[in-house]
Amino acid sequence: MAMVTRVTLSSSHNKTYLFPPPHNFISSPSAFQGNPRRRRFAISAMAPTTVLVTGAGGRTGQIVYKKLKERGGDEFVAKGLVRTVESKEKIGGADDVFVGDITNAEIIVSAIEGIDALVILTSAVPKMKPGFDPSKGGRPEFYFEDGAYPEQVDWIGQKNQIDAAKALGVKQIVLVGSMGGTNLSNPLNSLGNGNILVWKRKAEQYLADSGIPYTIIRAGGLQDKEGGIRELLIGKDDELLQTDTRTIARADVAEVCIQALQIEEAKFKAFDLASKPEGTGEPTKDFKELFSKISTRF
Ligand SMILES: NC(=O)c1ccc[n+]([C@@H]2O[C@H](COP(=O)([O-])OP(=O)(O)OC[C@H]3O[C@@H](n4cnc5c(N)ncnc54)[C@H](OP(=O)(O)O)[C@@H]3O)[C@@H](O)[C@H]2O)c1
Repeated sequence: MAMVTRVTLSSSHNKTYLFPPPHNFISSPSAFQGNPRRRRFAISAMAPTTVLVTGAGGRTGQIVYKKLKERGGDEFVAKGLVRTVESKEKIGGADDVFVGDITNAEIIVSAIEGIDALVILTSAVPKMKPGFDPSKGGRPEFYFEDGAYPEQVDWIGQKNQIDAAKALGVKQIVLVGSMGGTNLSNPLNSLGNGNILVWKRKAEQYLADSGIPYTIIRAGGLQDKEGGIRELLIGKDDELLQTDTRTIARADVAEVCIQALQIEEAKFKAFDLASKPEGTGEPTKDFKELFSKISTRF
């Protein structure tokens, strides 16, 4: 990643700015022209990117929300959308967290209004049927609660978010999906008869066709491990599923979401994401290089 320095431009403004400026820096060709007063005006116009993370109470969503807050107000203003009051409390209960169900198109509008970018981390979550005893062998069975089937959450719910974002002029959407969607017989599709990967992929296609700059991250098996210490791997068409490297830390997925908001090369791209095991390869630090390697739009 390019080195970023903080510079103070004038004592009268007494503000510190990032240099080189991030992508959300506002300037015009005439802004500089050697005139220091204009230059000062142009740099004062820099605005942070307001980002809404949906599924902010989820295991990856809460990392993205926290990371955005940690980057500070110069770069991002973080907002969250969660399904329940309990989830809101779990992530700190701040006023910037909305409570709403994404299957209700009207309710989510107030959360999306006024944001620059949307990170979609909502997903239907299968529940294990009671009575499974691992000591007796066999496999657990799963179900989805009424109103929380993949068709309702991963298709209608994501579509509602994309439609609202488009209507309200949101400039970028990052969507986290899953590897496995090229194969209808993937075992995840039979979980609770939900066809979860089918509905996820339909929403991904809808986003890619929406005209809004997008980044679709199809993650491998998610792990609750430390991020930033592995080499990330980009793939396409589920090819990584045929290899030994098909998992990734949730913290790394979260970082890729944030980097995608900052790096132009991530836009209009869809890709599979996994990582090498810790201790093999070089931990990924240059995300511009990583995104530049991706040639797939879907
Ligand atoms: N698990 C894996 O190994 C794996 C692998 C590849 C990709 N992925 C995908 O990666 C993404 C992140 O996974 P994760 O495990 O971090 O997520 P997660 O913990 O399962 O979080 C999903 C979130 O979606 C929210 N949600 C569900 N229905 C909603 C609704 N109707 N309205 C509003 N919010 C709703 C849930 O809220 P509640 O907490 O209130 O239910 C939950 O916080 C998901 O798309 C997942 O499918 C997962």
